[in-house]
Amino acid sequence: MHNILKENYFNEYYSTGFVETNTTLPNELVDEIKQHYLAKAEGHNDFPKFFVNNEHQVYLEGQVLGFLFNTFPNIAKKMVKKLYDKTYKKAVYGEQACIEKVLNYLLANDFKRFFKTRYIVVSYDMYLRNDYERSAAGIHTDLPNFHHFYETENDLTIYIPLVDLDNENGGRIQVLPENKLKLPGNILLKLLSQYFSEDPNNLDKDGYIDPDKIPAEAVVAFAKSKPHQDLMNLYKSVIGLANKHYANEFLMPTETKGKVLLWNNKNFHAAERWKNKQIDREVYIIRMFPIYDVNIKLKRNLHGNLFNNFLLDTEKGEIHRYDHQIDLSQIPAEAKLKL
Ligand SMILES: [Fe+2]
Repeated sequence: MHNILKENYFNEYYSTGFVETNTTLPNELVDEIKQHYLAKAEGHNDFPKFFVNNEHQVYLEGQVLGFLFNTFPNIAKKMVKKLYDKTYKKAVYGEQACIEKVLNYLLANDFKRFFKTRYIVVSYDMYLRNDYERSAAGIHTDLPNFHHFYETENDLTIYIPLVDLDNENGGRIQVLPENKLKLPGNILLKLLSQYFSEDPNNLDKDGYIDPDKIPAEAVVAFAKSKPHQDLMNLYKSVIGLANKHYANEFLMPTETKGKVLLWNNKNFHAAERWKNKQIDREVYIIRMFPIYDVNIKLKRNLHGNLFNNFLLDTEKGEIHRYDHQIDLSQIPAEAKLKL
């Protein structure tokens, strides 16, 4: 993250897990976001979609579930759905409807001051809603998966509570700062690049690996390959260490409605239990990532929705929307980070 965030913000991030933007969205914008998601059906939950074709990920969640997925996939899928229904009342991915408005507001408030790297892909947005009855998310990291495909260890997550997350309400986000323990992630881009570049059928006209050209069996073969399995086992060990040795060292900022926080979804995190019986906990999240000098094309769709379709220019302070995924071959080499 040191080559992505400017030094003073990196230091803040490294030791606290967060960068406080000191920017709060106006009430009207927060209400507009809430209003947009009100139209989504209660019970809409996109989380279980990530469990399809990600057996290695399920395995990490626990041996029993991993075994179930391999032997009784339908029962296991129902279990996963139930698990997430218990956590969230609504979880909506990739609407892409509020990204521009939020980014434009942030940019008007000097959002570019945080960044050292020139271009950032704004991948997709996310809305989470849960009520008093539902349990909060325990300690975890947002593991890489083949639905995203292009994954880095440096997610840049914009986190906006749509209601107060404080001592009284609970629901605060808890993060283990990077200076305590972190997962290596960029190595995955290297592994993907080495493995899939060998077959010319996987490459597009610019010589980039095109995830949409890779046959499903080849992805499964990669998931089972030794280097990938080694990495997954490493993740499992580090997740175990975080739970065992650092459970009490997660930091938790108080966030008022609309206040914008920056952090990294790849760092260990959890959510505090929601304590307010009267209103629901609502959070709006925008996930972004930096661009590396690896020849992998971005995926165009996430569960049927267009994503990876916004580019943040941190030099000009502009956000650009496209009707396709960002074409990384058009980003000048000097603006890419070294893997
Ligand atoms: Fe998470």
